[in-house]
Amino acid sequence: MKISYICSRCGKEEAVTSRKPRCECGGLWKLSFTPPKFSLDLIDRDTWNLFRYRAFMPLLDESWREISLGEGMTPVMAFDEDLSLKMDYFMPTLSFKDRGAAVLVSHCKAIGVDSVVQDSSGNAGNSVAAYCAKAGIACEIFVPEGTSPKKIDMIRAHGAVANVVPGSRDHCADVCRQKVSDEGRFYANHVYNPYFYEGTKTYLYEIYEQMGRIPQNLFIPLGNGTLFIGVVKALEEFLAGGIISRMPNVVAIQSENCCPFAAAMEENLERPAAVEVKPTLAEGIAIGIPMRGEEILGYIYKYGFRVITAPEDRILEARAVLAKKGIYCEHTTAANYAAYLHYCELYGRTPDSIIPMCGAGLKSDH
Ligand SMILES: Cc1ncc(COP(=O)(O)O)c(C=O)c1O
Ligand SMILES: [Zn+2]
Repeated sequence: MKISYICSRCGKEEAVTSRKPRCECGGLWKLSFTPPKFSLDLIDRDTWNLFRYRAFMPLLDESWREISLGEGMTPVMAFDEDLSLKMDYFMPTLSFKDRGAAVLVSHCKAIGVDSVVQDSSGNAGNSVAAYCAKAGIACEIFVPEGTSPKKIDMIRAHGAVANVVPGSRDHCADVCRQKVSDEGRFYANHVYNPYFYEGTKTYLYEIYEQMGRIPQNLFIPLGNGTLFIGVVKALEEFLAGGIISRMPNVVAIQSENCCPFAAAMEENLERPAAVEVKPTLAEGIAIGIPMRGEEILGYIYKYGFRVITAPEDRILEARAVLAKKGIYCEHTTAANYAAYLHYCELYGRTPDSIIPMCGAGLKSDH
């Protein structure tokens, strides 16, 4: 399998052993490689973590064996007759970000990186810190002020440095990127480094392996789009491999208080709209300037996907409803359920739907 990075702006090719966070022209890397046609026969069923799907990942070596923390393979649970939940907070660091971090940190190890920096609203930082601890890689995480203290405690417990940056999530990313360019540190970032999406692809692979099919409606949170892009990539592989004959209805979930994609679609813009980022309980999706915005909008228009917003005043209620049924998730995740209910109000009953339970409740009890 030939593997390289390709610049998403100018098309320049670069080796995946490169430590450059992005192309000289400013474009972000995409991975260029052609995985084998998806088949259940290529899953390594003796490996009880998401590397059971490694036949479809561009891994350079076997570093993952010493880095996996047993991530992935989360159950799909029937919530009611219309809705299933994929329990992604059953993960080593209690969020779906472990999917991406396990693969990204394995790649860092494979190319000999010994120190990384990363910015995060919290969960991706928890994941990268934990996997770096396992891998013996030094790690420094930047989080915005207001990040749940439990997430910050976890980052520090893994031996990483946690820097709390005053201001917005977008500003926090700027501060971290400045450090990357000033000090040449490796940017183990879930938005920039495309290895992360090779991990989030497994969300869809698992659904297919577990259910034997892909549900008609996939609700996916959309901040920077790490789960969204992974799912779209996996769906494209399924289309190419004849596993599905058409795209399911993917519904991207944004916060009502921060919705650059929903706003762009209203005016048919090619880029995310400039929006005011108002405070929201859904801190994990409060991204005003998504760095892969054009790429994501491209997928939305190409496949006719929908975007729905989570009503702010319904998030606590949604969280309480889930908790009363035994599911204690974080606020950003309750927003997924609030958005699903809102979608049903707008478009009618929507059976055969699945939403991810991305993050655990104990993490966001402020
Ligand atoms: C619980 C939770 N859900 C959803 C998201 C959104 O992920 P993304 O920004 O990659 O779209 C995040 C991101 O941090 C999160 O922590
Ligand atoms: Zn370029």
